[in-house]
Formats: sequence, C-alpha cells, structure tokens
Amino acid sequence: MKKDFSVVIAGGGSTFTPGIVMMMLENSDRFPMRELKLYDNDGDRQGILGEALEILLKEQAPDLKFSYTTDPEEAFTDVDFVMAHIRVGKYEMREQDEKIPLKYGVVGQETCGPGGIAYGMRSITGMLEIIDYMEKYSPDAWMLNYSNPAAIVAEATRVLRPDSKVLNICDMPVGTLRRMSQIVGTTPDKLEVSYFGLNHFGWWTSVKDKATGYEYIDEIKEYVAENGYLTQVEVDTQHMDESWQATHKKAKDLLAIEPNYLPNTYLKYYFYPDYEVASSNPEFTRANEVMAGREKQVFTAARNIIEKGTAVDGGFHIDSHASFIVDLARAIAFNAKERMLLIVENNGAIANFDDDAMVEVPCIVGSDGPEPLAQGKIPAFNRALMLQQVTAEKLVVEAYIEGSYQKLWQALSLSKIVPSAEVAKQLLDDLIEANKGYWPDLK
Ligand code: NAD
Ligand code: G6P
Ligand code: MN
Repeated sequence: MKKDFSVVIAGGGSTFTPGIVMMMLENSDRFPMRELKLYDNDGDRQGILGEALEILLKEQAPDLKFSYTTDPEEAFTDVDFVMAHIRVGKYEMREQDEKIPLKYGVVGQETCGPGGIAYGMRSITGMLEIIDYMEKYSPDAWMLNYSNPAAIVAEATRVLRPDSKVLNICDMPVGTLRRMSQIVGTTPDKLEVSYFGLNHFGWWTSVKDKATGYEYIDEIKEYVAENGYLTQVEVDTQHMDESWQATHKKAKDLLAIEPNYLPNTYLKYYFYPDYEVASSNPEFTRANEVMAGREKQVFTAARNIIEKGTAVDGGFHIDSHASFIVDLARAIAFNAKERMLLIVENNGAIANFDDDAMVEVPCIVGSDGPEPLAQGKIPAFNRALMLQQVTAEKLVVEAYIEGSYQKLWQALSLSKIVPSAEVAKQLLDDLIEANKGYWPDLK
C-alpha cells in the first residue's frame, strides 16, 4: 500500500472545505497526502476558498501539491480518494426546499419530507456526474460521499451505479456520540455502538465501553429523558447554533415515544412535525441562518486571508469533528477494519427488513469496503416507520429514472410529514416549477 495519497474534494466551494482541509493537515501523520485538489462547477465560489487555501497551504504544508479547478479531467485524474460534499442548487435552492413546504404548513427541511425529496431529485444528476468522472479518470479511486440527501443519493447509486466504489456516510451519529460520551464522562473513541435505521432515521440499541463491554445506554437514556442531548460543554463544533440546540433538546420527546432506544435527532421532523412548523419562521429558515452565519463567516475569513496575503490568525478553523472522514479513508487505505456507521445495502443486516433497502448500520471497513454487522430483528413500530420512509425514498429514485410524475406524487404522499395526497400534489407542482433546469422532466 502506498504511503501518501492524492485527494480531490468535490464541492470545493463548500462551507465545510476549509475546516476539512485543516482537519486533514492536522491528521497528516495518520493520513499523509502528496496532492490535494478542489473541484467545483462554480469556479467563482470555489476560487475564493481556493485562493485563500493556497496561501494557507504554502505557509503550513509547503510540500503538499495543491490546486483548484473546474475541469473534471484535471480534478479526477490520479486521485486515490474523492471526498464529495456537493450541494446541487446551493443555498438558493435549499431556501426553496424549506420555504415551499412551509407555505402549506408542512415541515420545510433540507433532507426530510418534501424539501429532502426535492433536493434528492437535484442531487442524483450531480452525484452520477462526479461518480462517472472518478471512474473515467481514476478507476481505482474510492468516493467518500457526504453530499445530501444521503439516503436518496445512496439508493440512486445502488440502482444506477451498483459497482461503483462509493461509501455514503453521515456525521449526525458521530456528533451525537460525542454528546453521549460527554454525558457519561468519556471520549467517543472509547465507545462502541449498535444502531439500526435509515440515514437521518434511526436508533442506538447499545453504547458500550470498547475495552470493558460496560453498557452505558440506561445512564444515557436517563440523561436524555431530562435534557435530550443538550450537554454543558461544547462537544460538537458543527451543531452549535441555537436552532441546533433546540434539536438536541427535542431528543427528550423522541425518547418518550420510543423509550427502548436512543433516537437520531432527525426523527423529530417525523414525530413532531406540528411543533416543528409552529417553531419555524417561514420568512427566515435554516438556509437563511446558514447564509448569515457559517457561509458568511467562512467566505469573509477567506477574503481576509487573500487581502492580507497570509493565513496567520486567518479565521479558518480545524473541523476536528470531521476526522471520521480520515478514519474512513484510512480504513480503506490501510485495511484498518474500523467499525463505523455507514449507509449500505441491508442484505440481512437488519434481519426482518428488505434486503435491497439502503440502511444505516455499523460496518467493519477494510480495503474491500464495508462489511455490515448483523443487528438482528427490529420491533414492528420502528420497522413500519422505516418501511414507509424507505419506500418513499425508493419511489423518488424510480420517479427520477422513469420521469414519473405519478411516482413522485406517491413518494410525497407516503412521506409521514405530508398530511394528504392533495397537499402532496400542490407541493409537487410548486416544487417542479422551482426546480426547473435541475430535475428531469416528469410526465
Ligand atoms: P455549499 O453550498 O456551501 O457547498 C456545496 C458546493 O457544491 C458549492 O460550492 C457548489 O457550487 C458545489 N456544487 C453543486 N453542484 C455541483 C456539481 N454538480 N459538481 C460539483 N460541485 C457542485 O454547501 P454546504 O452547506 O457546505 O454542504 C455541502 C454538502 O455537504 C451538502 O450536500 C450538505 O448537505 C452536505 N453535508 C452532509 C453532511 C452529512 O452528514 N452527510 C454533513 C454536513 C454537510
Ligand atoms: C447534520 C446532518 C447533515 C446536514 C447538516 C446540516 O450534520 O448530518 O446531513 O447536512 O446537519 O447542517 P446545517 O448546519 O447546514 O443546517
Ligand atoms: Mn447527515
């Protein structure tokens, strides 16, 4: 196995790019790189981060070959890993995904319900494009994908690119595990979990001490029943805004409805949509918060670095919580047999769930990819909810492939968040209008 790697970040203009690049520098002893490239289809947006990172890397990692480009051949040639975080339609379309449902009193969310479905219909095209570039220019490379909506992207990849080396991963379980470790006074690397579900739709069944096998779940549940996942100490650099704190807190009510397991925070959109709509501002949604917050902060820092010509005290911060991406790359590169939650084809991992469903379960990851770990049978309540959700996700992908209005209408009607077929149809017609140029034509 080689000793240093060539990486391209697809979606180079992402608000997460500087934090991830700095995290990779911090981890360069565990994951040495010889070359790093950024690729984006928006050269102006990426150029700001690219120029600032060029300055930073010259100062902090002069031996690392660095470039940024909008040319697929340049970007994808001679790479070992593609780290993908694209957002097709950018924040402008995220805003639509969130605001259109709210007009109908329906939850407006990036990855859940109608917003997630609309985003999914956009993302499939962009994801297939970069997978094809990778396979054309670096056929041995792996793609580590965290572009959303990961559940729909993963299903589309399963159906349309079944042999591609794409691993889909989400950071929510990672972030929440950090909070759990805080609750019991340890660190996440010392914990080992069992978990079943779909992406943004699952439950922890066990949280154990890796070394001793001691089971912490009852202690964590006791805390969550009172406080949700709100902890006193800053444990998760990504999910810290006030609206995220409300989400961590709401886990309390998610545990109340299903006290057997610890919930993924995203279940709040399915169990408490009325609360969610009531606490949303239809004029100022999460997309607006992020544009005024993270996006502004990151791009202002980049412009400052460019203006000063140095990144010393420059305002880019290490996204240490993203180090799981390095763990995943290492697991592949060094056959590390790391245990991680990934979004994979079920094939019996959840014994009483469809084989061809893309589920989120613990896997052992080595050079050949992930081996899902058996999670046994799950109860009827959770299974029924998951089946409804996964069927909606599958219908989205079928609608995309067949250009079927009917199937997308069914997908929206099946989403637990949407109250009726009538509302689903009105929403669909609005979403088609808003997504012109991004979605395939539907008949
Ligand atoms: P962003 O809009 O700042 O960045 C996305 C970038 O992708 C933009 O620069 C855009 O120009 C680019 N892009 C869009 N379509 C493209 C295409 N077809 N080819 C190449 N580049 C393209 O968004 P962000 O908030 O930084 O998030 C980036 C992505 O990461 C989103 O999909 C988001 O949902 C995802 N994300 C996932 C997780 C997870 O847990 N899986 C966590 C955080 C963010
Ligand atoms: C979590 C989820 C991601 C999602 C992100 C949104 O990390 O796991 O899938 O993209 O939250 O965060 P934001 O700050 O953009 O609302
Ligand atoms: Mn996620």
